[in-house]
Amino acid sequence: MYRSTPVPTQPGRSVGRFYVTTPIYYMNALPHLGHAYSTVLCDVMARYHRLWGDDTYFLTGSDEHGDKIAQAALVAGESPQAFVDRLSLAFRATWQKLEIANDDFLRTTEPRHACIVQGILQEIYDRGDIYFGSYGGQYCLGCERFLTEKELADGRCPDHGTEPTYIEEKNYFFRMSKYQDWLVGYLSEHPDVIYPEQYRGEVLAFLRQPLEDLCISRPKSRLTWGIPLPFDDGFVTYVWFDALINYVSALGYPDGELYRRYWPVSHHVIGKDILKPHAVYWPTMLHAAGIPMYHGLCVHGFWGVDQAKMSKSRGNVVRPLELTDKYGIDAFRYFLIREMTFGQDSSFNEEAFVVRYNAELANDLGNLLNRTLHMIGRYCDGVVPAPADEAGGERQAFLEGAGAVPGEVVAAIEGWNPQAAVLAVMDLVRSANLYLEQRAPWAAHKQGDQARVNTTLYDVAEALRWVAVLLYPVMPEKMTALWRALGQPGVPAWPPELRWGLLAPGSAVERGPVLFPRQELALQEV
Ligand code: MSP
Repeated sequence: MYRSTPVPTQPGRSVGRFYVTTPIYYMNALPHLGHAYSTVLCDVMARYHRLWGDDTYFLTGSDEHGDKIAQAALVAGESPQAFVDRLSLAFRATWQKLEIANDDFLRTTEPRHACIVQGILQEIYDRGDIYFGSYGGQYCLGCERFLTEKELADGRCPDHGTEPTYIEEKNYFFRMSKYQDWLVGYLSEHPDVIYPEQYRGEVLAFLRQPLEDLCISRPKSRLTWGIPLPFDDGFVTYVWFDALINYVSALGYPDGELYRRYWPVSHHVIGKDILKPHAVYWPTMLHAAGIPMYHGLCVHGFWGVDQAKMSKSRGNVVRPLELTDKYGIDAFRYFLIREMTFGQDSSFNEEAFVVRYNAELANDLGNLLNRTLHMIGRYCDGVVPAPADEAGGERQAFLEGAGAVPGEVVAAIEGWNPQAAVLAVMDLVRSANLYLEQRAPWAAHKQGDQARVNTTLYDVAEALRWVAVLLYPVMPEKMTALWRALGQPGVPAWPPELRWGLLAPGSAVERGPVLFPRQELALQEV
């Protein structure tokens, strides 16, 4: 009677295969809210695809070379290697705590990465697209690149607010300019590669100016902390040229089994500040090396804090683990996905987080579960009742509304709009609350109308089972608890289909601990 949703596919992309990557984070400070967002987002996307049965691979890692890290290690009084070992461990521990189920964690200081970077450099060099030249310009340490005069704002770097240093030196250059026309043509013919659309527009606008060649080396006299160029031992590789290659080195390019399986069905998730390296350097590098172009570049906005930019100097850097210690891991994951519209900026505010938590998780969802389990305990001997064959009225409206939700979730996830997926499920939760109010099983019980009691409680329990499946990628631990509370074994599962009525009458429900206890704003340190 109601629509069931078969395992979905991605139109226009390789069916049933999904490779998703986070940016690899600079190992110069501990993870903050922005890093957590990229990583949780990728995890949520990977979990949806796994839930649908897609062959999924999820990569994250650490970017460990370059000036910025060598400087940070110096300030910390540690050797670069000891410094990145420590930070990389801290990142991995944070991801583990945040329930990130990545398949690999690549460190750019690993030999398996370095030899592939050298292989690709040699290949491009042999093809004649790397040359030796001289360059002088304003170098920004924060950006790790030369800035053009046009980019400077009052003589300072617009992103870092610092004055660049004039540097003149001989270096190796990648003939990026040669591939400008190819790139413009490619992006015009493949309008869905960069999304949301506004970022594709930004890239195409940038490409209206002549593209310069890219300086891809640093003389060892200035920097030793990098991968040596295979064709000149006096130089190390520019950190971006090294880092971008992680997306294929982790797969064992050129002949690894993972590479053959997952390239190029990759989706690179990045923040908007690193659009240019991913939308211009990386595609031209791939093309020059004869590697197929990636499938998607998914660009998210920036988190501010209390309407301000998050920065060390402002002292307002939000550390994910401080929040999860106070409010729980799944609530934090929920908030990140629910709050940020993909592609746009968002502002974090702890009070707003607590208000959202109490309204949506504690009240709407948590109370719905409490009430349902309580009534099943009281009116149905603690087992899921069998529904009567009742049609029409508010039941029909409720079931029809519910039946549309899985399709909405699939469409939202395939369209990289996880916030819309969460909102669709929370609408189902609210309509289940409304349905309970309309059907008032407590009154039906008093009047001896057991069929109405049974049908209502069955429907709400079944809706909750769907919620457990549909939000499992966002809140794996809490949704497993919800699933088990409904007497379901194992973990929430979608395949072969999410069909209404699969909750077996007779399943014993379990009233465990409250799923989302109400929270007070806990501004004090824990
Ligand atoms: N190492 C490079 C990426 C190389 S990928 C081949 C890098 N690292 S980073 O640690 O500085 O940033 C990693 C990611 O965090 C970027 O996607 C960046 O956009 C994101 N964010 C940093 N601050 C952020 C916010 N305040 N909000 C959201 N994301 C932010 O860049």
